[in-house]
Amino acid sequence: MTPTQPIGVFDSGIGGLTVVRALRRHLPGEDILYFGDTARVPYGTKSPETVIRFSRECFHFLLQRKIKMLVVACNTASAIALPVLKETVPIPAIGVILPGVAAALRVSRARRVGVVGTQATIGSGAYERALREADPDLFVTQKPCPLFVPLAEEGWTRGEVPQKAADHYLKSFVEEGIDALILGCTHYPMLRDVIAAAVGERIGLVDSAEETARETAALLKSAHLDNPAAGGGSCRVFVSDTAQRFEAVGSAFLGEPLGEVQMVDQSDLPWYER
Ligand code: DGL
Repeated sequence: MTPTQPIGVFDSGIGGLTVVRALRRHLPGEDILYFGDTARVPYGTKSPETVIRFSRECFHFLLQRKIKMLVVACNTASAIALPVLKETVPIPAIGVILPGVAAALRVSRARRVGVVGTQATIGSGAYERALREADPDLFVTQKPCPLFVPLAEEGWTRGEVPQKAADHYLKSFVEEGIDALILGCTHYPMLRDVIAAAVGERIGLVDSAEETARETAALLKSAHLDNPAAGGGSCRVFVSDTAQRFEAVGSAFLGEPLGEVQMVDQSDLPWYER
C-alpha cells in the first residue's frame, strides 16, 4: 500500500457525504472514493444479517479500486458490520461510533448523554455499550428517529414538517436533563437547525464527522499512509442506483459541488455471499 492510494468511504446513501465534507477539510491532499448504496438504502430498518452482507459488498467494491483505508460513514453499518469487517479487512478501517462517543464525552459536563439514530443503530446498543465502557456512571438515553432519514434524503430540512418531527422525537430528551445529544446517523446533521430548535441551546449537538476525520488523519499518519500533498485531493462518487436524487441534494450534504456521480452496474457489486 502507498500513501497516494485513495481513502474509501461508504454509506447506505447520501448521509456519508457529511463525513466526506469533514475529511476533505482535514485532509485536503487525499483522494476519496465514495460509494453510496442508493439501490438498497435505508439500512436502518434492516436486520443485522442484511446490514452485514450489504456492508461487505460495499467494502469489496471499494477494495477492488485499491483503497488504502476504509471509513464506514454510516452509523448503522458501523454499529453492526464494522466489527465483522475488521476481522477480514486487510487495511486500516474506522467507523463513526467511537469518534462520536469521544466527542460526546468532551461535550457533556452533567454526564447525561442522549443518542438518536436509526432503528438498527439504536437496537444494536453499540452507542450505549461504548459510552458505558468509557464511563460506567454515565446516564444514557436513546431513541430511534426513523423519519429523519427520508426528510434529509428529500432535502426537506427546514420548516413546519421537519420541525414537528423533531419536536415529537426529541421532547423527552429535554425532560431527561441531558446536556449532549449524539446525532448517531450521518443524515441527521442536515437537520441540525430543527434539532437544535427542538432541544434548546442547553443541549450540545454532537456530530461524529469532525472527530472521525481527525481520527482518520491520525490513523493514516501512524500507518505511514498519509498523502504528503498539501491540497488538490479529488472526490469521486459512485452509487448503486439512479443518481438523480443524489445529484439534486448531494452538494448540500458535501458542502461543495458534487461533480459527476457514477452509477455502477449492480453486477459490478460482488454478491459473493449469496
Ligand atoms: N446513514 C445511515 C446511518 O448513519 C442512515 C440511513 C439508513 O437508514 O440507511 O445510520
